[in-house]
Amino acid sequence: MSKTKVGIINVTGYAGIELARLLHLHPEVELTSVTGRSAAGKKLGDVFPHAASINLTIEPELGDVDIAFSAMPHKDSAQAIIPLLNKGVKAVDISADFRLKDASEYDSWYGFTHSAPQLLKEAVYGLPELHRTDITAARLIANPGCYPTSAILALAPAIKEDIIEPDIIIDSKSGVSGAGRSLRLGSHYSEVNEDISAYALGGHRHLPEITQEIALLRPQRPPRITFTPHLTPMTRGILTACYIALSPGKITIDKNGEEKIREIYRTFYQNEPFVRVLETPPHTKYTWGSNSCLIYTTIDMRTGRLIVISCIDNLVKGAAGQAIQNMNIMLGLPEVTGLEALAIFP
Ligand SMILES: NC(=O)c1ccc[n+]([C@@H]2O[C@H](COP(=O)([O-])OP(=O)(O)OC[C@H]3O[C@@H](n4cnc5c(N)ncnc54)[C@H](OP(=O)(O)O)[C@@H]3O)[C@@H](O)[C@H]2O)c1
Repeated sequence: MSKTKVGIINVTGYAGIELARLLHLHPEVELTSVTGRSAAGKKLGDVFPHAASINLTIEPELGDVDIAFSAMPHKDSAQAIIPLLNKGVKAVDISADFRLKDASEYDSWYGFTHSAPQLLKEAVYGLPELHRTDITAARLIANPGCYPTSAILALAPAIKEDIIEPDIIIDSKSGVSGAGRSLRLGSHYSEVNEDISAYALGGHRHLPEITQEIALLRPQRPPRITFTPHLTPMTRGILTACYIALSPGKITIDKNGEEKIREIYRTFYQNEPFVRVLETPPHTKYTWGSNSCLIYTTIDMRTGRLIVISCIDNLVKGAAGQAIQNMNIMLGLPEVTGLEALAIFP
């Protein structure tokens, strides 16, 4: 039987080339077409020597495929995807273009008016741990952002179980690849190395996405979220720490309460192949190059706050790996197909 043909729009960014690396090893699909702008016409291996065994030339336009992944910047991604959908091609969009259900949020957070608001209702937010059933039948997946993946997975069990207050603090640290491959002063080695800084304190673009998904889990108590992202001197990885007051009378502020919360998390994720609840705080290194999300919960006994730590690789569970997980679900394949590699350590 012939394999499903897949393609990558904008293979020359970090998310795009990570998709190529993972799809190359996928046993059930064939990567047949990759596009790029300035690199069009070049062999993929000439632009990325580590990917030389993928024998493809970067094209200006996507060839015939069954499923397309878009790793384009936001706004341009929707423009690339819409004609494909019209031709009957299914799409997984790694950009933010179909993640928000309220079209007006694109004006306020992304500075453009959405060109296909009717597709926002149809697009499925591709976080399999929350939306697996809808992903199965979808033709358009909005692959979650990297910070939102780490934050939503960290918070979902406690919100769903209604054990925490709506005031939520999310403090995240990201490696520099999260800012993409395009040249920017803010990601020059000499400015990022041996440095750590908070940014987007007035409101990061991932905040409406996190708020939207958390609100869906507990509509009766809408969240109020403070989200502070940081840039850290590492290549890959996101470490997210969430701080939330426990709701009165639900969990005892002691070791028993702590164990009860861990049990809630273990039960929530018991059938999830990529989410693991640990007994010790995870390191980003434990996820490097893998599709896993590692979570640790504890109670701050002095304040009664729940602390949840989560780690992912921003380019895998935060982008390309999760996109392939979504594709596997869309194709009816075992969800872990092509994604079982362990993290690279140390
Ligand atoms: N990086 C992450 O961790 C991450 C995680 C989740 C989601 N995402 C999303 O994935 C998408 C790609 O992000 P990335 O970090 O991989 O990007 P990136 O590394 O910054 O992408 C840079 C590449 O994009 C090309 N490019 C830029 N603007 C373009 C345009 N208008 N049309 C065609 N090509 C264009 C550049 O091509 P030229 O060489 O021609 O300039 C360059 O090769 C974004 O929507 C991002 O939000 C990224």
